[in-house]
Amino acid sequence: MTTPDTPTNPSQTTPNQSDWSPGSWKSAPFNAPYAYQDQAALSAATTRLTQLPPLVTSWEIERLKEQIAQAQRGERFILQGGDCAETLDDCRPEYIANKLKILLQMSLVLIHGLRTPVTRIGRFAGQYAKPRSSPTETADCNGSSCTLPSYFGDLVNRAPFDPDSRAPDPNLMVEGYKHASMTLNFIRSLLDGGFADLHHPEYWDLSFFNNADLNEERKSQYQHMSRTLADGLSFMENLGEQRVHESTRVDFYTSHEGLNLFYEQAQTRTVPRRTGHFDLTTHLPWIGERNRNLDGPHIEFFKGIQNPVGVKVGPTMDPDELVTLINTLNPNNEAGKLVLIVRMGASKVAENLPPLLHRIKSEQLNVLWMTDPMHANGTTTAAGIKTRNFDDILTELELTIKAHKAAGTILGGVHFELTGEDVTECLGGASGITEADLTKNYASLCDPRLNYQQSLELAFLLATAMQD
Ligand code: PEP
Ligand code: CO
Repeated sequence: MTTPDTPTNPSQTTPNQSDWSPGSWKSAPFNAPYAYQDQAALSAATTRLTQLPPLVTSWEIERLKEQIAQAQRGERFILQGGDCAETLDDCRPEYIANKLKILLQMSLVLIHGLRTPVTRIGRFAGQYAKPRSSPTETADCNGSSCTLPSYFGDLVNRAPFDPDSRAPDPNLMVEGYKHASMTLNFIRSLLDGGFADLHHPEYWDLSFFNNADLNEERKSQYQHMSRTLADGLSFMENLGEQRVHESTRVDFYTSHEGLNLFYEQAQTRTVPRRTGHFDLTTHLPWIGERNRNLDGPHIEFFKGIQNPVGVKVGPTMDPDELVTLINTLNPNNEAGKLVLIVRMGASKVAENLPPLLHRIKSEQLNVLWMTDPMHANGTTTAAGIKTRNFDDILTELELTIKAHKAAGTILGGVHFELTGEDVTECLGGASGITEADLTKNYASLCDPRLNYQQSLELAFLLATAMQD
């Protein structure tokens, strides 16, 4: 008997892509920055992952695809966010609940401000693999200098700088799977229970707006928005719990960078009564800026799966290359299939984005345009701390919105690195985080994230900028 989303015939290939299989990426010019030494352990880990149940289902993936298609048409907005990299150690109820809460609260601000449904996609339950600019790192180890593999995230190796921790370990893929599964289980339970905090304005931490060192115009704008939001939430509450639950019914999806193709392949399968292969580690896997070369293994793998697929688009992308990329990943020009996550930087977006928008529009290619105003706005302080400036993030957002308006195209979503915790990793925002604050609570092992207050503030500003 087959049960939903158990593998059927793993050797079956996707129609019209007869040379594609879940493992065909291995024949692409391979530029993996790390290598597993123990082939027997690699085979044991991937075999086990092939046998384990899927983390998500094909019908959830199809529902997300439909919602992405709606966002492409401007009938919905997508909010994607979470950690730069989750760690296995961070799989704790309070962190998970706080991340979910900030995403849900931001989405309510956007629903309210944009008057459109919002789909939330977490950068979590599997965001364990990280691309690095350099494959190795040289530092002090027990008194002498040594060169070891960089830390590629807990799905690949471990952060401490010693040879054992930094050796790529295939068993971490099974550990990553288990932690993704525990995270998802908790998220699904929280959402099933209604996650009541959400509907009670008194549980929202908006008081920082009142105390913030802001100009009067922005302060009164925030106060007005908080008040109308609180009224809206109370109104929904008065409809009764059941109605509230229905009217804010929370669809929630997961995403991660599909960096480790051994992991992705092992959970990629055909399912009964559906055509093609689904990557069942996540709803929306994406290809990072460093791995989107056209003849590389990632494009080869992603072009064959049924999931919607994200691709990061940096400032060096040229229109011809983008058209080829789109035609490779979405040859049938299917709606809801391809998400372009543009990350150009506040200083480049006004010049580099419009040519892409015009070209894709004139070719009538179906894509969802999203903006990631985080990844090209990194800076390092004089003290050597990696950070991002709230104002740069906001500037890239505003310039992106402007570029879409001018081109007559649709910005259908945003992608943020954020956490529900009170960290001090990004500078600025209403709570005024300064360089001196950065060391107070800097917890990220990778890129700096917006904290709870900065995230909520950005949602308010985004809602305002989209309405202008
Ligand atoms: C990321 O999303 O964490 C990331 C590394 O992004 P990019 O590939 O755009 O640099
Ligand atoms: Co990042």
